[in-house]
Amino acid sequence: MKAERRAAAKARPDAAVHAARNFFASVPIPDGGVISLYYPIKDELDTEPLAARLFEQEMQVALPVVAAKNEPLVFRRYAPGDALVDGVYGELTPDEHAAILSPAIIVTPLLAFNRQGGRLGYGGGYYDRTLAKHRADGSVIAVGYAYGAQEVDALPLSPVDQPLDWVLTSRASLNRRHNGKRGETVRIAVFGDIVGRSGRTAVVERLPRLRRDLALDFIVVNAENAAGGFGVTPRICEELFDAGADVLTTGNHAYDQRDDIAIFDREPRLLRPANFPPSNPGKGSAMFQDAEGRNVLVIHVQGQRGMFPIDDPCAAIDRELAGVKLGREADAVIVDFHAEATSEKYSMGHHLDGRASLVVGTHTHVPTADDQILQHGTAYITDLGMCGDYDSVIGMEKSEPLHRFVTKMPGGRFTPAAGAATICGIVIETNPKTGLAQSVSALRTGGRLREIRPDF
Ligand SMILES: [Fe+2]
Ligand SMILES: [Fe+2]
Repeated sequence: MKAERRAAAKARPDAAVHAARNFFASVPIPDGGVISLYYPIKDELDTEPLAARLFEQEMQVALPVVAAKNEPLVFRRYAPGDALVDGVYGELTPDEHAAILSPAIIVTPLLAFNRQGGRLGYGGGYYDRTLAKHRADGSVIAVGYAYGAQEVDALPLSPVDQPLDWVLTSRASLNRRHNGKRGETVRIAVFGDIVGRSGRTAVVERLPRLRRDLALDFIVVNAENAAGGFGVTPRICEELFDAGADVLTTGNHAYDQRDDIAIFDREPRLLRPANFPPSNPGKGSAMFQDAEGRNVLVIHVQGQRGMFPIDDPCAAIDRELAGVKLGREADAVIVDFHAEATSEKYSMGHHLDGRASLVVGTHTHVPTADDQILQHGTAYITDLGMCGDYDSVIGMEKSEPLHRFVTKMPGGRFTPAAGAATICGIVIETNPKTGLAQSVSALRTGGRLREIRPDF
């Protein structure tokens, strides 16, 4: 196994950077929790990029110290610039003046691992004793940190060996709770129309944490009202991608910000409805890959009822799906159907039932309570609702809409409501074999609406 690790270390000099990214995308880090790392020796996966990101986010880091032979490890605080001294096994450790901390997450090196969280260490049993002690005292998350090449099918484990909760490699985040299937099930979230600064701020601030806590593999956000209620800008797209959105969809407001419409041609992660005129900037569907290399097809179409006249959405979606079988060419298919009429949205859900993992409605900005898995396995919700302030008229400050409602005359401009936003979306988990949905739940958090969280 040492030879595999040596070869992997040579072949993948960037592996530690990717593993650090996977760590942040996957492992739930408790608020204020201490994360213990290890000081790499020889070909162990480098923890430096992970340490750098933890320090950047002002998190507390500790390093293990062998206190006595055959005793659990102790963990001493380590901050950038602290002097390190020689440890017992050729590693570097904080000196005896560094504070002793109790980690919430213990990141361990290893020789080999399997998908069930089994860990083969170095035979001294230090981490097993340490994890047993911390698990007896309360909760601790054990994270194996390794090259993908260190995975094996079976390990010679004994009852005293402590399983890992996670194994993080440069390519994958494996979670024991998911019975080793983590590499195959795709956990997807889609969020409804972001309205104005309030919605944008909430999504940018909370998306990284939601991604971690819900172990999300792929995130789609509808951004059609993100720029002052109307359209998107390149800077807003960047902000949302940085926060963890994988793909942005839009709708009838796609082109409202006219300064840089070419962004739709430049940025493949930004979609407009597929049934817009074909000569319009951008496109309406694309195949993406998640961090573990699974193919995720995202298709965006717009409805006809109560919207401006547009090509048939059924024909458009059938064209985009031609030659793509769910579970074969695509591990997941996500459809954002941007439409007004609930009847049209239900019809689209049934039209796609069995061919898509998830069909969501957007555009009305009001969440519906009908998240479900349809008869043939497609998860569906009529409307996600918006990411915006619900003390409003569908996201807009209410005085102007009310004035128009009562007087039938415009009084001024529409401006987005600025109170705390509720983030509204949906989370699904796909069946690893079929790509259809095996779990679905609405997700609503923050602002005025009742909190709803997935329980899977
Ligand atoms: Fe819309
Ligand atoms: Fe909208």
